[in-house]
Amino acid sequence: MWPQVHISNHPLVQHKLAMLRDVKTEPKKFRELIREITMLVGCEATTDLGLSEIEVRTPMGLTRGQQLAEKIGLVPILRAGLGMVDGIWEMMPQAEVWHIGIFRDERTLKPVQYYNKLPVAPRVQVCLILDPMLATGGSAVATVGILKKWGAQRIKFVGIIAAPEGINTLVGAHPDIPIHVAAVDDHLNDIGYIVPGLGDAGDRQFGTG
Ligand code: PRP
Ligand code: URA
Repeated sequence: MWPQVHISNHPLVQHKLAMLRDVKTEPKKFRELIREITMLVGCEATTDLGLSEIEVRTPMGLTRGQQLAEKIGLVPILRAGLGMVDGIWEMMPQAEVWHIGIFRDERTLKPVQYYNKLPVAPRVQVCLILDPMLATGGSAVATVGILKKWGAQRIKFVGIIAAPEGINTLVGAHPDIPIHVAAVDDHLNDIGYIVPGLGDAGDRQFGTG
């Protein structure tokens, strides 16, 4: 339906996603699952990273190997995106992490930016936006806009659950951005929550619900 959207069909992702959605899952387990699902979806989102050839000395002699040729920036959208950083960072410890603070105005559902820690000029070739929920799409569209204005060359959105409404909005505003998620759900309800979704991803991670 949307060529930009990649939905993970990895059995581990789907197993962990069901646990994440469960209303009985406590914040500690919820945070673990966010981290694990992000590792798996993050792997799928980075299969096209560039490599360069290197020479490696093993205990038995010389061989050829490859190393990442591109610098990666992880861009979590506060708050809920914070929990997605650790898992993906563990696999690419050389990545830089640049925080963007955005919350949705509860009444208008429009994104409100309150924090931006980007350096003056981009120092990375690939930016991975991290946010578990793509609901109306407002936060993601705003973040992509900030990164493009900053001069980011390649941007991908890595999430966990998306609503069709949010995908349409993001694809409509920024058709060049690949979207990687664990699931695309049914719809948004009248207060902008994804159904069936998982509730409030920030509150469930930080125990603030
Ligand atoms: C949530 C979520 C996204 C945003 C998605 O954040 O983490 O950033 O909503 O909604 P949208 O697609 O309609 O913009 P929220 O505003 O609840 O802030 P929080 O992460 O600080 O709890
Ligand atoms: N933000 C969330 O945390 N959950 C939703 O369902 C929508 C936006």
